[in-house]
Amino acid sequence: MTEQDFIPKPYTNTLKQGKVTWESPSNIALVKYWGKRDPQIPENPSISFTLSQCKTITTLSYKQKEVTSDFSFDVFLDGEKKDAFKPKIETFFKRVEQYVPFLKDFHFTIETKNTFPHSSGIASSASGMSALALCLMSVEKLFNTEMSNTFFNQKASFLARLGSGSACRSVEGDLIVWGHTKHVAESSDLFGVKYPYTVHDNFKNYQDTILLIDKGEKQVSSTVGHNLMHNHPYAASRFQQAHDNLEKLKPILEAGDIKGFINLMESEALTLHGMMMTSNPYYILMKPNTLEVINRIWKFREDTGLHIGFTLDAGANVHILYPESEKVEILNFIENELVAYCKNGEYICDQIGFGANQIE
Ligand code: PMV
Repeated sequence: MTEQDFIPKPYTNTLKQGKVTWESPSNIALVKYWGKRDPQIPENPSISFTLSQCKTITTLSYKQKEVTSDFSFDVFLDGEKKDAFKPKIETFFKRVEQYVPFLKDFHFTIETKNTFPHSSGIASSASGMSALALCLMSVEKLFNTEMSNTFFNQKASFLARLGSGSACRSVEGDLIVWGHTKHVAESSDLFGVKYPYTVHDNFKNYQDTILLIDKGEKQVSSTVGHNLMHNHPYAASRFQQAHDNLEKLKPILEAGDIKGFINLMESEALTLHGMMMTSNPYYILMKPNTLEVINRIWKFREDTGLHIGFTLDAGANVHILYPESEKVEILNFIENELVAYCKNGEYICDQIGFGANQIE
């Protein structure tokens, strides 16, 4: 598939008004995407677990308008008008207009809400942009009723990517690869694909408990963060390492090797933060409590032999990943020992999920 394949033929019917609703989950990367070039092409391949509970629910209402020279839309978060979101959506509309050429024909009302607490430090861009992309695809499907489900999902992921890179990994589940690598058949820089190889039952219903260590605004925006990889002294070897890690992950996932999995996932998380510490300007996004939690996870793992591991996003929060079979003991440990390090004691229990759903 190339970009050209996502440009539709002229539509033959018209639409007056209507609305569609999608819910779309967040995702957590195991091999991290960090570094991109225009137009939102990743510098390295990544793979993520789609989540289940952390999601965005978006209703897109569309109404045909007379003047078709500009985009026209309003955005609401939890029922409140959010003009602050408009520039990001306007940029997204500009980027995707050639692929969904009806955007200027309608006035849109975008009503959105998240299931996770507002400003929890959990990025809503992956779930938010994928939900919006899916809504646009549902409108496009009304123009082109013949569209296959495979194409629908592929193009939704393609559009979501143009909103926020990692959003392209939220359309489907449960393991999604984005970025071309010879180690994963059919992988593409343009959209996410389902991981096509065998995955052992040890990873079924894998758990992700997210500790909210720091709930503030992101200290470094993703765009600034990705740009730090331009002229980064370790960029080339980091990008190569991501390919190597995707190759290494294959036998780990197939054999159900949770120890190997934890080793690779934790190394990826620390490498991501290592890249930020060794760029210029440089950042430390972990907080003292992030380190405290990591050390306690390592000690608990050593003491008990349980399969508890962590990963991090570009922030201070800690995602604790573990198999469902060890849920009781590990949740006990989290509640007794780790919750004290969370802002206001807040954490979210999530698990691997299977992608977005249309609600209306
Ligand atoms: O999709 P963005 O531009 O917000 O980038 C997300 C980058 C990381 O979350 C740090 C890693 C990843 O692969 O999700």
